[in-house]
Amino acid sequence: MTGVGGRRVLLGITGGVAAYKAADLARLLVKSGVDLRVAMTEAGTRFVTPVTMQALSGQPVYTDLWDPRIPDNMAHIELSRDRELIVIAPASADFIGKLAGGLAGDLLSTLCSARRCALMLAPAMNVEMWRNPATQRNVAALRDDGVIFAGPADGDQACGETGMGRMLEAGEIFDLIQGFFAPRLLQGRRVLITAGPTEEPIDPVRVITNSSSGKMGFAVARAARDAGARVTLVAGPVSLDGPAGVIRINVRTAEEMFAAVQNAVPDCDIFISVAAVADYRVKRPATQKIKKGNQRALTLDLEENPDILAWVAARPRPPFCVGFAAESENLAEHAMEKRAKKRIPLLAANLVHEALGADDNSITLFDDRGAHPLGRGAKGELARRLVEHIAAMLDVK
Ligand code: PMT
Repeated sequence: MTGVGGRRVLLGITGGVAAYKAADLARLLVKSGVDLRVAMTEAGTRFVTPVTMQALSGQPVYTDLWDPRIPDNMAHIELSRDRELIVIAPASADFIGKLAGGLAGDLLSTLCSARRCALMLAPAMNVEMWRNPATQRNVAALRDDGVIFAGPADGDQACGETGMGRMLEAGEIFDLIQGFFAPRLLQGRRVLITAGPTEEPIDPVRVITNSSSGKMGFAVARAARDAGARVTLVAGPVSLDGPAGVIRINVRTAEEMFAAVQNAVPDCDIFISVAAVADYRVKRPATQKIKKGNQRALTLDLEENPDILAWVAARPRPPFCVGFAAESENLAEHAMEKRAKKRIPLLAANLVHEALGADDNSITLFDDRGAHPLGRGAKGELARRLVEHIAAMLDVK
């Protein structure tokens, strides 16, 4: 079970092609232990059937205000009262308009109107419908009322046009739901994170790099954001979308990463160095592509890159510093050595073959009190446990 296990969520589905993503969202929620109820508008049932949603949620699906299965005919009260969150995905322009106008003419709109819990909308519509001033007025009014918006995103649309209005992917909405339920352990803290590899040019074509995907660092950024922190993420070259609500600074080389960190570090309380920074760079990268010619061997003249984490930790009033170490052997021994050498309070150690590029990982934390195994799990889950550990260390300081 993840941090949302046992939470009570109602998923509402309105009419839109993106309704197929709601099936995936239901699967993710149920798999993570959420107690899920599903209600659909009549238009929603045209895109995905109640039978599908019933099979995925393992619960009866509700579509009608006059559902005879509800003994007192108060479906809108009965289905919403014990819920902690209602998520409408997809939320059509029509449905958003109804909610903004306070209309309650069918089960789902009545349910939203009568709710006592938070409401999250994942809009899905054509780009012009999204841009339409009436839609924008409705969205602004609902935001003012405290409704949470998950997206929409920019991109290709089912109608063949391109622009804002595409519904977020199921995983992205799931991520925001997890964030909604996360305890605000780092509320008000400013967190700076490095993630991914660096690329050190050899010539205009070749680079020295490593296979860090950025997944671990991005997961830590998400977990810190969900815990209420203001997060800045300095990312090496990776193909991941930045977590929403996080300030992202893209860099390529270790020197660029160092400059970005130097710039951001005066405004941070916690520095988490997840990046796999290249220790060396080519002294004089060739300005033109190196030709193979007749040479049997090629020697590169390397010089050391700055140690960003050690530099931050050595500042007069350093932020709380967390290092990472990926080792291929003797994990505990190397991790403890690194922590002492860099003079940092906390180090997260993982094995190269388990951590690099993978979705799951296994982490052991090392601090003054010794080793704390976090166990094995999805990087998102381990990142949440790391944030809990950091928050606990800061609380006792
Ligand atoms: O990106 P993924 O595919 O998800 O993989 C995640 C990861 C394996 C990259 C991550 O979990 C991890 O272990 N990162 C640290 C990699 C490493 O072994 O770093 P290191 O031993 O070279 O450095 C130790 C610490 O100093 C790290 O916190 C590193 O960010 C930092 N460092 C290192 C060198 C340098 N020049 N500057 C630094 O700041």
